[in-house]
Amino acid sequence: MKHSTAYQVAIANSELTVKVDHGDTLLSGILRAGVGVPYECNAGGCGSCKYTLLEGEVADDLEESAGLRASDKRKHKHLACISRPRSDCKIDLKLDAEYTPKNPPQKTEAVLHSVEELTHDLWEFRFDSTGPAHFLPGQYAKLSLPGVDGPRSYSMSNIANEEGRWAFQIKRVKGGEASEVLFGDSLYEQAVTIDAPYSIAHLQPHSDRPVICIAGGSGLAPMVSILRGIAQRDDTAANPILYYGARTGMDLVTKTYFETIPGFCPDDQYVPIVSEPDKSESWSGAKGLVHDFLKENLKDHSNENEYYLAGPPPMVDAVRRLLVLDRGVPVERLHYDRFF
Ligand SMILES: Cc1cc2nc3c(=O)[nH]c(=O)nc-3n(C[C@H](O)[C@H](O)[C@H](O)COP(=O)(O)OP(=O)(O)OC[C@H]3O[C@@H](n4cnc5c(N)ncnc54)[C@H](O)[C@@H]3O)c2cc1C
Ligand code: FES
Repeated sequence: MKHSTAYQVAIANSELTVKVDHGDTLLSGILRAGVGVPYECNAGGCGSCKYTLLEGEVADDLEESAGLRASDKRKHKHLACISRPRSDCKIDLKLDAEYTPKNPPQKTEAVLHSVEELTHDLWEFRFDSTGPAHFLPGQYAKLSLPGVDGPRSYSMSNIANEEGRWAFQIKRVKGGEASEVLFGDSLYEQAVTIDAPYSIAHLQPHSDRPVICIAGGSGLAPMVSILRGIAQRDDTAANPILYYGARTGMDLVTKTYFETIPGFCPDDQYVPIVSEPDKSESWSGAKGLVHDFLKENLKDHSNENEYYLAGPPPMVDAVRRLLVLDRGVPVERLHYDRFF
């Protein structure tokens, strides 16, 4: 039997039928067609890309995912980011123009160029692709690695360029399938596939508000990209401040690294916050959880800023609650990616 190379996916209550390549997820296929659809994690974690399958057949990458309850499954609901059409389909999926991609995601082959150890378990991986690297500061890619089942999401820490350079800061996950390959020594010999860009939590092109970047753990990469994006557009009004939460002093990226960001002065603009300082370390900087620190230290006029957040979901959610509920920051000034 001859296999179709693409499936036609009709979206109910719209005039739209989108061509989704064989093997592609519904979410990627729809975004590649330039159509906006709500999503966040691209990994089955957040549930924002939920849809109902009305006709046809799909295969889901994961049997269980945090974004989908058993009751959803009984109602023929799936997550567009992890389901792949197996036939022409009709789906009921909410569209949203806010998510219309400025650069629809594309796949490109890349090879590892170099690695820099930023901390004991956070390394910056730099890849070179054959085509250009087109994305907005703060966006992320889906990286497919040799021998690893399914792609993994990682945010770029550099900015767009025609030379095809991609940088990712990746935190080693103990026992993680992708981590084993990335932190092993065979990656230089094999190509990876970069599928990018994704996310609407990117640097806002038309905002002239002061910028506050808040990151925890591996959430640093998109903030570095945003800081580089601000430097590139020579935006002095942004005057960004970066708050970065880590568990111990050993988990912090040194100030020297931030000195590579043009115009960024780590002594004045970088606030590291440590939640569990080691007894052996003489940590004299900010202590506690990021949202607790911000509660005490964010200035009263905090609702005048543009906020960018990335990192573990509990941290991002706690900071969102602080800003929106306690400080009255309008939700449209918060741009966040939770790293499920
Ligand atoms: C939007 C976003 C941006 C992120 N950016 C960064 C970053 O910049 N730096 C960073 O260090 N981390 C980032 N992360 C977290 C990172 O994606 C995870 O830590 C990473 O997936 C760990 O992969 P692993 O294989 O090492 O670990 P594992 O624990 O083995 O796998 C992690 C996850 O991969 C998914 N997965 C497993 N198998 C499959 C499959 N067959 N198909 C599809 N998915 C599968 C599952 O969701 C699983 O929970 C980001 C996450 C998100 C959602
Ligand atoms: S579950 Fe699909 S985008 Fe998060």
